[in-house]
Amino acid sequence: MADWLKNAIFYEIYPQSFMDTNCDGIGDFEGIIQKLDYIKDMGFNAIWMNPCFDSPFGDAGYDVRDYRKAAPRYGTNDKLKELFNECHKRDMHILLDLVPGHTSVEHEWFKESMKAEKNEYSDRYIWTNSIWEEPDGLNCIRGISDRDGSAAVNFFSMQPALNYGYANPTKPYQQKPTDPAPMATRQAIKDIMKFWLDMGCDGFRVDMAGSLVKCDPEYKETIKLWQDITGYLRQYYPEAAMVSEWGEPQYSLAGGFDMDFLLHFGPEGYTSLFRSEKPYFSKNAEGTPTKFSELFDISYASAKKHGGLVCIPSGNHDMDRLARFRDHDELKCCFAFLLTMPGAPFIYYGDEIGMEYVENLVSKEGGYSRTGSRTPMQWDDTENNGFSSSDKSLLYTPQSTNPDRPTVKKQQNDENSLLNEIKKLTSLRLNNSALQNYSEFEFLYCKDNDYPLIYRRWDDKQNILVCINPAGQAKSAELSFEIKGKVIYSLGGLPEINGKSVIIPPSGACCIELDN
Ligand code: NOJ
Repeated sequence: MADWLKNAIFYEIYPQSFMDTNCDGIGDFEGIIQKLDYIKDMGFNAIWMNPCFDSPFGDAGYDVRDYRKAAPRYGTNDKLKELFNECHKRDMHILLDLVPGHTSVEHEWFKESMKAEKNEYSDRYIWTNSIWEEPDGLNCIRGISDRDGSAAVNFFSMQPALNYGYANPTKPYQQKPTDPAPMATRQAIKDIMKFWLDMGCDGFRVDMAGSLVKCDPEYKETIKLWQDITGYLRQYYPEAAMVSEWGEPQYSLAGGFDMDFLLHFGPEGYTSLFRSEKPYFSKNAEGTPTKFSELFDISYASAKKHGGLVCIPSGNHDMDRLARFRDHDELKCCFAFLLTMPGAPFIYYGDEIGMEYVENLVSKEGGYSRTGSRTPMQWDDTENNGFSSSDKSLLYTPQSTNPDRPTVKKQQNDENSLLNEIKKLTSLRLNNSALQNYSEFEFLYCKDNDYPLIYRRWDDKQNILVCINPAGQAKSAELSFEIKGKVIYSLGGLPEINGKSVIIPPSGACCIELDN
């Protein structure tokens, strides 16, 4: 485990939409560098940046054309290196987004593998032996190559799946994970990781990490593959961190990842808190926390077992914005929760000001319904909300036209803003070790259709009770012990403590440092 992960608070940057400095309407590395002081001042000391590599951008950069080249629209490799260095100067860390499962059809490897003559890359992807045969259980690309065969795809139809083998090959075209071609793919990915780590990045968020070995229902072979890769990192880059997009920590952490996310797909739980029709974090108080707690208990137990972290993101570039259907009181409660739970917090850019989901946008770069969560950052009230001085028509996507749309500037000047609440919470977390990523956790009051939610965080120095009441009315709970201690954080007013019981104000929260 990298030491810096102990108190890392991540900020996810979608580079297209963060800050444009060369007036082309699309964000760039220089823009991120200029905003590092803002990010650090918010208390976010680590960054995950979405793919920034050369790509035709059919899937926002998750269709890589050249893994070793920064996309020119963001800057050069040298500029990216400067970004790494500028992060380190501020004692911040930065993860790149690694897409090991597939490439763009425009990647040189794929172009070579499409050729009829056998060559070094013929088996870099999964090809059946005839155009009339489709790969088992996967969509495919057919009819665009001289080669007689169909190429499996991993996601969109222009993202051919790299060949890491099949868990149990049953067809002539399926190879074992340890066969020479799948091993060569694995080596190629290790070399790419080495290339960027040597340049100064601090690790990777790994796209679709559970998808590499095909037809592997229990992930046995996928876990072995990741153990091999993470084992290599432990040996040569012990300070590098790895977070998987997998959503099942019992598998990913066994594979050696430091962290996994709870996500909007996979086992239900995450969405019941923030995004379902009647989520727990809403004033109408009709939600329930137990779908989440049941999942979290299992995930947390595997985190403990493997020494890893389960991370609950505020959102990401694939989900609805957290602020869609939520008001700012509700959002403050969400953040009181997100920033006091174990695991490393991940805050999606713009969520710190409650940026809205922009409805009815035309799809951009394969975003489709995700496009509304990927709009340019709203910095201030100047042209294009301070994101870019380009002509509006060039902007990556249109921005919100709501006259009350939030901006960083407005919220910095309002002491009651969401942004300032989040700053309080990050500082609380950074100054109280019991609230940090690896410190202990247990639910104390978490009941079906009931509010508040209470849990305890502790380490060998502190014991902190966290109470959150997203409901629009005050809510009380009785615990099994006398609550004695000091309130070190409160939202919505002070809690009323009376022996074993506590009353939390509407849309309120508190942290009580217990005497024992
Ligand atoms: C997950 C990424 O987060 C998403 O944006 C992308 O479209 C797919 N993986 C395919 O790479």
